[in-house]
Amino acid sequence: MPPKPQPTGAKPLLDITTKLSDHYDLAPNPDLAASMADIYDRMDRVVSPADWAIYAPYVKAINDLKRERNAVVLAHNYMTPEIFHGISDVSGDSLQLAIEATKVDADVIVQCGVHFMAETSKILSPEKTVLMPDMSAGCSLAESITAEGVEEMRAKYPGAPVVSYVNTTAEVKAASDICCTSSNAVQIVDAMESDTVIMTPDQYLALNVANHSKKKVVFWEGSCIVHELYTADDLKAYREYDPEVKIIAHPECTPAVVAESDFTGSTSGIIKWVHDNKPKKAMLITECSMASNIADELPEVDFAKPCNMCPYMKKISLEKVLYVLHTMENQVEVDADVAEKARLSVQRMIDLSQKLGL
Ligand code: 13P
Ligand code: SF4
Repeated sequence: MPPKPQPTGAKPLLDITTKLSDHYDLAPNPDLAASMADIYDRMDRVVSPADWAIYAPYVKAINDLKRERNAVVLAHNYMTPEIFHGISDVSGDSLQLAIEATKVDADVIVQCGVHFMAETSKILSPEKTVLMPDMSAGCSLAESITAEGVEEMRAKYPGAPVVSYVNTTAEVKAASDICCTSSNAVQIVDAMESDTVIMTPDQYLALNVANHSKKKVVFWEGSCIVHELYTADDLKAYREYDPEVKIIAHPECTPAVVAESDFTGSTSGIIKWVHDNKPKKAMLITECSMASNIADELPEVDFAKPCNMCPYMKKISLEKVLYVLHTMENQVEVDADVAEKARLSVQRMIDLSQKLGL
């Protein structure tokens, strides 16, 4: 089972900086930063004034260019605060971003997230131009399985439907029956008619779903390199040190980690839980930027940050966003036949989620 090569072709940063400096004044600018205090207010607990003076010229240039190009920025919850609060029009988890891609009224979508998210937007909105700030922003889950892998699983479990996590390539989605995200996986699996359901490619999501589902769940053995690093022993040790802490984990963590947590949910589910419950102390067992992005809205919550970074999500920067909007390079394309089949899998998930009120 050879892993599918992920998109490559990231531009050298020096080229980007040189090209941009011919067109924009991107020097740190404290006066401009001060004039954009309304934006800075959303992140001033986590971004220093000195850093904001560096970011402000990029944020202004991107927001101006968005209007010129009739573009929207869809940002995943793992984006850094200057992207999440500074330039995004819509932010959310994978399901929310997929739904938004079907609705946004724009000519151009800039996907601030990883490549499979941009492919999903293109599949759902083929008439729109979808730009990826860095084509090499992959995902360990998406890299772990190919369409042949899906066929191997079908051969092993004849008749069982394939539910594939959205963290997959368009080819894998096309080879699957339906997609799921971390916010609807249990309900999607339970809605399948067969007693046995194949889940790809995240073994831990599958095991966590199996713990809440009536179905026999069989799975591909992929994993997220960010979430698999957390251990139940680390969480137990932290709870012993600070019994007041609420531990909130993403379902890509191992079942042992999930068992140690007070709540498990998608990235937006986690944000909602913290908003609704306002714990005095919280530890988000997921990617670093999550806690940073909500720190200003929730000053009463003290976040302990164990902080594992996603090296793929962190390839996205203001500089690369400005570059792709300026040049219109890095347009995401999906083969029309593949896109048509993949759209069915994603649309089935969206329709079922909406029917179930998720
Ligand atoms: P969410 O759908 O929960 O946002 O998860 C996406 C992801 O890549 C988490 O690692
Ligand atoms: Fe993929 Fe994990 Fe990064 Fe999410 S956090 S994009 S699942 S590697």
